[in-house]
Amino acid sequence: MSHERIETRVGILIGLTLFAVSIGGMIEIFPLVFERGAQPVEDLKPYSPLALEGRDIYIREGCVGCHTQMVRTLHFETARYGHYSVAGEDVYERPFLWGSKRTGPDLARISNRYSDAWHAAHLMDPRSVVPESNMPAYPWLFENTLDGSETAAKLAALKLLGVPYTDLDIEGARAAVQNRTEAEALIAYLQTLGADMVNYTGGSQ
Ligand code: HEC
Repeated sequence: MSHERIETRVGILIGLTLFAVSIGGMIEIFPLVFERGAQPVEDLKPYSPLALEGRDIYIREGCVGCHTQMVRTLHFETARYGHYSVAGEDVYERPFLWGSKRTGPDLARISNRYSDAWHAAHLMDPRSVVPESNMPAYPWLFENTLDGSETAAKLAALKLLGVPYTDLDIEGARAAVQNRTEAEALIAYLQTLGADMVNYTGGSQ
C-alpha cells in the first residue's frame, strides 16, 4: 500500500508533512498580504498635539488599567455607551488602548458627555462629583506643565507610520502645547474619544 510506504520512510513523511502544512499556512497568510486593512471612518481626524500629549499622560497614569475603550456589540453596551467600536476609528491608534478591565466605565464614547470643568473637578477629586467613586485623584496633573520639547518628534513619528499630519502641524506642535497643564492635555484627549463616531452610519468597517 502506498500509504504504508510513506509512513515507513521518515524522510518522505517529513517532506510530505511540511508540504501539507505549508499549503494551510499559505491559505491563511496570502489573503492578509493583499488585504487593504481597516480604512479610517469618514470623520476620523488625527489627535491635535495637545490631545496627543494627553494620550501619553493617560498611558503614564495607567488609566487603561481601569477603563476600556472598546464598546462591544451587545445591546446593553450600545444602549449605555453608543455605537459599538469599529476598526476604522482606531487606525491612528498607536498603541491601542482598548484595555481589558473595567473598574470604571468604558471611555470610548466619553467625548461631549461632560464639560471640561466636570472633567477637571473629577480628575482633581472624583468624590467631589461622584460621591461613591473609587477612582484615584490626580491633583499633580494641575501643577505639571508641558514643555513640548518632544511633541513635534511624536507627530513626526506618527506621520512616518501613516497618520496624516502636515508639516505645518509638526512645526506648530511645540507652541500648541507649551506651558499648558497636563490636566488640560488629558481633558483635550478625553474630549476627542468617540467624537469621530457621532455621525457614523456604517460607511467603513
Ligand atoms: C482604580 C481604577 C481607576 C483608575 C486608575 C482610573 N479610573 Fe476613571 N473611573 C473609575 C471608576 C470606578 C469610575 C466611576 C465613578 C466615577 O465616575 O468617578 C471612573 C470614572 C471615570 C470617568 C467618568 C466616566 C463616565 O462615563 O461617567 C472618566 C472620564 C474617567 N474615569 C477618566 C479616568 C482617567 C483619565 C484616568 C487616568 C488619569 C482614570 N479615569 C483612572 C476608576 C478608575
